[in-house]
Parts: sequence; structure tokens; C-alpha cells
Amino acid sequence: MIFINFKTYQEASGLKALSLVSIIEDVAISSQIKIIPVVQIIDLKEIVSVTKLEVWVQKIDSVSYGANTGSVLAEEIVNAGARGTFLNHSENKISDFNLLKTVVDKAKKVNLKTLVFCSSLEELEKNKTLNPDFLSYEPPELIGGDISVAASQPDIIAKAAVISKEAGIPLIIGAGIASQEDVRKSLEMGAVGVAVASHVIKSQNPRGALMNLTEGFN
Ligand code: G3P
Repeated sequence: MIFINFKTYQEASGLKALSLVSIIEDVAISSQIKIIPVVQIIDLKEIVSVTKLEVWVQKIDSVSYGANTGSVLAEEIVNAGARGTFLNHSENKISDFNLLKTVVDKAKKVNLKTLVFCSSLEELEKNKTLNPDFLSYEPPELIGGDISVAASQPDIIAKAAVISKEAGIPLIIGAGIASQEDVRKSLEMGAVGVAVASHVIKSQNPRGALMNLTEGFN
């Protein structure tokens, strides 16, 4: 499976987000690989209305209905049609473990699936106890760069896969993923899928770039 993280890229915002989702849906259908767009909250409702894909958001907060200015309310994310949420991405870190646990528990309470990012094996060991639906190993220094985690850290991916497997939680690999070889290597080391942003979203040919990644699953 592939998670496409829309972040706040201009190429993945507003009307462009809608076009990108349509491309992702085409590729998901023709490749038969599960691809999940992880979209901006402001675009969520409209995207859900035009796609059959499972759509996720990039974060929620732990709050419930009430006086919580500026927070992302999980109940309304579900009502708007999201099926899951990223948590603890290195660009939106929840450094207090107890708070992270509260947010994961909140997501579970409203039936949102969760993917919890981890920047290191130590963090993976800690966060597996939260029992999210997916764990992701993503070294922040390689995000958006030219050197992929798959090419440069296969041994760490293998160790991450052992930790995740022991916990019975599927592992997703991200940071600099840019080729079918990266996907293949990640799977070979024990991951079930990848999280990708810049290689697809910033591409002149997002369809071709994504299609190429799906071939890593064959
Ligand atoms: O969530 C995945 C993302 O952080 C990876 O970004 O640009 O390295 O594919 P990128």
C-alpha cells in the first residue's frame, strides 16, 4: 500500500488536490495497489465527495466538542468522511508521549484508523505500545531529499520490521521514496508499504511517478 501525504504543498491544495486525487484513483484502479491520499482538512469534504478511495487526514487533536479554539475535532473529521489519520509526523510532532496516547485513543474512540510516525527505532519501541493500526519509520533528515531511506538505511528498516512484527502492527516506510526499487527494498526488508510526498506531488508527471512506484509491488 502507498500513503500519499499531501502536506501543504501548493500542488496538493484546493482544486489541485482534486485533480491529484483523480490521478491517484486512476493509478490505484489500474495497478490494483491500495493508495490512500492523506489530505488537508480544508479539502477533505470535497475530496471525499469525488472519490471512492479511502481518504485520511494529516492530524487530529484529542479534544471533544466544546471550547477548543483552533483544534481539529475528530468527530467532525469522521463526519466529513475521513477513515484515518496520521499522527506524530516529524513535521507535526507530539513530543509528550501521554498526549500522543490520548490522541491515539481519541482516534480509536471515533473509529478513525491511525498511523503513528517514528523517527528512530527507540521511538518505534515506545510507540508500538500505543497499538496504532500502522507504525511508520521515517527519518526526518531524509524527508524530501535525494537519498531515500530504502537505499541508505535497509538494515534499520529490517530492525524496524522486527519491532513492528513483534507488536503485530504493519510497518510503513517513508522519507525520500522515489523509485520502484525503493518500494521493493522496503518490502524486502519487511515493510508492507510506503509513505510518499514530494516525489509524486512535485513531479511534472505525478501519474507516471506514482505508476512507477506501484510497480515495486510486483
Ligand atoms: O509522510 C511521508 C513524507 O514525510 C515523506 O516525504 O517528500 O520524503 O516523500 P517525502
